[in-house]
Amino acid sequence: MIRILVNFLEALLNTFYRQRIYPRFFVLETIARVPYFAYTSVLHLYETMGWWRKSDWLKIHFAESWNELHHLLISESLGGSRYAIDRFVAHAGAFVYYWIIVGVYIMAPRSAYHFMQLVEEHAYHTYDTFLKEHGEELKKLPAPDIAVKYYREGDLYMFEEFQTTHPTEFRRPKIENLHDVFVAVRDDELEHVKTMIACQQPDAQETFHSPHTANRPAIPQSIADAINEQTTAIAREAVETEPVEMT
Ligand SMILES: [Fe+2]
Ligand SMILES: [Fe+2]
Repeated sequence: MIRILVNFLEALLNTFYRQRIYPRFFVLETIARVPYFAYTSVLHLYETMGWWRKSDWLKIHFAESWNELHHLLISESLGGSRYAIDRFVAHAGAFVYYWIIVGVYIMAPRSAYHFMQLVEEHAYHTYDTFLKEHGEELKKLPAPDIAVKYYREGDLYMFEEFQTTHPTEFRRPKIENLHDVFVAVRDDELEHVKTMIACQQPDAQETFHSPHTANRPAIPQSIADAINEQTTAIAREAVETEPVEMT
């Protein structure tokens, strides 16, 4: 089921958007953002009913959604949403995926997180390949204003909030040109991969906290090991990325 959902999304993007880079990013960011909305919807419901109250997880998933919103705004600023057909594909896909992930998250939360781990890995490789193929031209192009505001000038609390595996310092990407923007977006996707891995660990409900939680205990070694093991192969293929080893 999870593999089918991921394969369908990848096939859609590879078939219809192979040559249309910014519309591809627009469709990917629209649909790939929806699962975080699905998680927060269900957690909000649980909280309202008094079944399970865990504000940290709501905060983290909302910050992830906020981060993906800015990836979406960056793709829009580059013309990704110019055509109605692309907007229709993205919005229809988002609607369908939202309800599917709500159902999966209620019945099997770990499967819903595994789905998103695979989607985020796909997003990471999409941006990494783009940087490998177009890196030099991107360095000559300006960064969109929305990227400068989000990564450098805005309220950085939300940018920090989804960096759940950085206990001592948060990423502060430099944003001087379009190449820097896509390096930052690609590295964001790896942060999401790490968080999705952490959320799937058996003891995560007790041990996984917001990076802003006061006196937050260090991430348990078992979770750190799982993240390191699964992200090493991904990062090895990168052009340039932050070290994935946990400190
Ligand atoms: Fe994204
Ligand atoms: Fe993503």
